[in-house]
Amino acid sequence: MPLENRIALVSGAARGIGRAIALRLARDGADVGLVDVSPAIEETAALVRESGRKAVVAIADIADAAQARAAAQRVAADLGAIDLLVNNAGIVNNIAGVEKMSEEAWAHEIGVNLTGAFNLVRATVGPMAARGFGRIVNISSVAARGGLARQVGYSATKAGLLGLTHTVALEYARKGVTCNAVLPGMVETENVKVMPAEIREAAIAATPVRRFGEPAEIAALVAFLCGAEAGYITGAEIDISGGGHLNTLVLGSRREAGGR
Ligand SMILES: NC(=O)c1ccc[n+]([C@@H]2O[C@H](COP(=O)([O-])OP(=O)(O)OC[C@H]3O[C@@H](n4cnc5c(N)ncnc54)[C@H](O)[C@@H]3O)[C@@H](O)[C@H]2O)c1
Repeated sequence: MPLENRIALVSGAARGIGRAIALRLARDGADVGLVDVSPAIEETAALVRESGRKAVVAIADIADAAQARAAAQRVAADLGAIDLLVNNAGIVNNIAGVEKMSEEAWAHEIGVNLTGAFNLVRATVGPMAARGFGRIVNISSVAARGGLARQVGYSATKAGLLGLTHTVALEYARKGVTCNAVLPGMVETENVKVMPAEIREAAIAATPVRRFGEPAEIAALVAFLCGAEAGYITGAEIDISGGGHLNTLVLGSRREAGGR
């Protein structure tokens, strides 16, 4: 099993993509620390244990540095030194134009999506470097590059994660620690399932492969990036969006891919 004897920490693992990542890492042999603000994290833990691996739960708000550090310490104390960190927890706090987005909504999104990832990197990367192995995967979004109207905070945090990724990759490249960003397009999670039909249809029409992604597809990419074979990939931004990041506006592409 490619991740046998590895210890992972996955944030935002109570549901959605984070749960799929936790289950996939466990299927590949890792024991998993699960960090979330939601008590539903216990359901993910039960599923990990059913698959035969160990799971440790830490209920924590990762935007708070002390809580993030305590969660990482708890996982390391119960499972062993953390080898794999997946910064998956993310929120959309408010959907509003720039002028209408409140300072609180902006600060909350920056706090969870960007500072939360920073907090968990700081809590785990030192021991990874000391042991000469580590894998950090940050779940960004296609919104990092193209912007997202009415979601300025979210888009800015996802772009900020790319800067975090590049810098951690540079600082730790010689120490066996890689850091990469995964940029999903629309993925069929609880949030996306409840979107109005017209928005779902428009999003599918704008996606060259003509469907949403599955959480398990994101998880498979993350698992690969966590493996020993991915040691030459660092500082990368990997789109997993059904071609949603491609330019479908020019004439020939528009015909093939549907255009926007
Ligand atoms: N679903 C998509 O289409 C999509 C597309 C691109 C990127 N993403 C990104 O993928 C990640 C997961 O998305 P999802 O759709 O599965 O989201 P989700 O809302 O289903 O799950 C997010 C999880 O994060 C947890 N969380 C929220 N705030 C937290 C905090 N302060 N501390 C700890 N945990 C916290 C939530 O409780 C929840 O379990 C997010 O970073 C999201 O931005 C999702």
